[in-house]
Amino acid sequence: RMHLRKITTGSSNLDELLGGGVETKTITEFFGEFGSGKSQISHQLSVNVQLPADQGGLTEGDKIAKAVYIDTEGTFRWERIEQMARCLGMDPELVMENIYYMRAVNSDHQMAVVEELFELVPKENVKLVVVDSVTSHFRAEYPGRENLALRQQKLNKHLHQLGRLAEVFNVAVVITNQVMARPDVFYGDPTQAVGGHVLYHAPGVRVQLKKSRGNKRIARMVDAPHLPEGETVFAITECGIRD
Ligand code: GTP
Repeated sequence: RMHLRKITTGSSNLDELLGGGVETKTITEFFGEFGSGKSQISHQLSVNVQLPADQGGLTEGDKIAKAVYIDTEGTFRWERIEQMARCLGMDPELVMENIYYMRAVNSDHQMAVVEELFELVPKENVKLVVVDSVTSHFRAEYPGRENLALRQQKLNKHLHQLGRLAEVFNVAVVITNQVMARPDVFYGDPTQAVGGHVLYHAPGVRVQLKKSRGNKRIARMVDAPHLPEGETVFAITECGIRD
């Protein structure tokens, strides 16, 4: 039995916007500018997926739901995982053990890593796959308008693969995408269009993140077919994502 499940973000506001949390069998994209909280949400979900089902995670009994974190920019922080785990009363060492950290050095490597997950995910009861950020290598390697078609083609193939992974193994796939605050600088490049169709054929759920006052952030649901459009506020605290 493979029904759709949800992982809590740590914020009930954000969970509500998402229709109960980040869902399995789907790609959820968090996009926004630098510092908007994409990586913090990614870290938090890697911890939260390991919680028991009655606390918003996907662990059942002693069968721990694990996470894969594909880091493309070297921004992953184990200390942050430790801190988030401790705040939830979890054993930080155990939580860290159950996150498979993978550094993707270029776009081909990133795609190869995902290919390998078709073995690892079912074998190790992985229930969350994070790609932070999904676009950075592709942008760096295929810059400008002249490479746009090829870049989109490669990116779409990658997203298709991630979508299959989500579907086949009933896991949640979370991708992040940094989008500049000034889209005019990147005129002609739709992958840089704020609120635009950044990842054309990406299925699933898209959430735009915006900075607000202090540690507050605004999350906005973008063109989700089965979820109402709307906005909500959450916070990035010492303990992680909260209301
Ligand atoms: P980039 O990864 O830089 O593209 O941005 P992002 O959108 O991923 O932002 P990120 O998730 O890294 O969030 C950055 C913000 O999270 C910072 O501005 C801080 O406000 C907050 N933050 C990060 N680490 C901590 C921490 O250890 N404690 C607290 N209280 N806040 C933190």
